[in-house]
Amino acid sequence: MAVRVVIGGQWGDEGKGRLVDLLARDARAIVRYSAGNNAGHTVINERGEFALHLIPAGIFYPGKVCVISNGVAIDPAVLLKEIEGLESRGVSTENLVLSDRAHVIMPYHVAIDRADEALRGKAAIGTTGRGVGPAFVDKVGRLGIRVADLVDPKALRTRLEFVLPYKNAVLERLYGAEPLDFTAVYECYRDYGERLGRYVRDTALLLHEIMGDGGDILLEGAQGSLLDLDSGTYEYVSSSVPSSTAAGAGVGAGIGPTEIDEVIGVYKAYMTRVGNGPMPTELLDETGDILRMEGPRPEIGTTTGRPRRCGWFDAVASRHSALVNGVTMAALTRLDVLDRFPTIPVCTAYRVDGKLITTLPASTSIFARAEPIYEELAGWQADTSKVRNLADLPEQARAYVRRISELLGVDVGIISVGPERDQAIFVRAGEAP
Ligand code: GDP
Ligand code: IMO
Ligand code: MG
Repeated sequence: MAVRVVIGGQWGDEGKGRLVDLLARDARAIVRYSAGNNAGHTVINERGEFALHLIPAGIFYPGKVCVISNGVAIDPAVLLKEIEGLESRGVSTENLVLSDRAHVIMPYHVAIDRADEALRGKAAIGTTGRGVGPAFVDKVGRLGIRVADLVDPKALRTRLEFVLPYKNAVLERLYGAEPLDFTAVYECYRDYGERLGRYVRDTALLLHEIMGDGGDILLEGAQGSLLDLDSGTYEYVSSSVPSSTAAGAGVGAGIGPTEIDEVIGVYKAYMTRVGNGPMPTELLDETGDILRMEGPRPEIGTTTGRPRRCGWFDAVASRHSALVNGVTMAALTRLDVLDRFPTIPVCTAYRVDGKLITTLPASTSIFARAEPIYEELAGWQADTSKVRNLADLPEQARAYVRRISELLGVDVGIISVGPERDQAIFVRAGEAP
């Protein structure tokens, strides 16, 4: 029995969905443990191309249990649409289960998310506007509505009778926005509860049953560690509780930390970021455009369709996330996107006010002034997208992977050279890049 966590090592969109689709083969249950439908995980396999927001990327393997656990905030309309979308393309959701302890994103969360961004003005975070942050604020503030309430019309009414007037006061008095009508919200969510009821159960107990029976579990992270409230680049982060880091996986799935065997950190071969906040290696020139548009899948947000900000690999920020997650193995994705460059810079330190620093500063104002110090690595200028064995990778590409591995302080065990399931190189034990 093994429990493995897949986390994003940067600012999200590292290819976690792609990795989980690859690794789910060996697991009995695949679990989304944090965040909400701010996440967008792209999977391309023999069934087609899919964008998942809430459903774990193991759903394409018949017979695997796919769990949306207690740590996730679900928007019922989005979840129902995702279920219908998969079913209409012949992907069964029969084995999908939803935690009765998961929190529910309500219409006032979406309204507050957008109104709050407007109120922040220049200090806006650049959220996905899906109500995820405000839903977790309510979770911490003990004002949340959970799936257990959603599927029980009486409990839903009682809870909403208390919460909705409270939220309407916030909408009207703080944001000058329209209040929401009780009956309309209640009836709509009662209907969602009725439709989702068949998926609901105590998912922590289910996972413990599977583990007790010797089944492997794969925990699918959302976002990236640099977007984490504690370890990330606060305040330009996401508000998921539990954390999107490996430590949050246990809390979010109802599994103790002693059960987790392996932490797979997914890192892009360069950096991207959506939304606001400092990004020292960001390229605002033509090279940035090439990184964004090169290769089979351009860097366009899966959830919002926003172009992603692109830049060279930042080893300072990435090493920080490897440390705080206890990453045991790294997976390096989108190496193919670097195929055309004659040289590839990697940021190994920052210069701030004339001083060299090699760790991630806590202060946003310091991080905003960080200038990248680059080490130039030789490019390989060859097509890697068809390579499946380490030995067939050009020497310069192997040297690039080797250097990233040294800088991260962990071995790279998987190299992804394309978005499709089989476009991956597994580095065998003892076979260093
Ligand atoms: P996630 O949120 O971490 O699951 O990542 P996203 O799915 O949001 O973004 C990753 C993007 O890169 C998607 O469009 C994937 O199809 C694509 N992708 C994943 N791995 C590779 C790779 O090795 N090469 C290329 N070119 N694209 C990849
Ligand atoms: P996946 O799982 C990339 C970013 C948003 C914004 C900040 C806060 O696909 O990697 P929020 O709506 O969460 O309050 O927005 O966090 N963000 C992501 N960026 N990938 C994600 O998920 C993200 N989830 C949140 O762009 O900057
Ligand atoms: Mg994504």
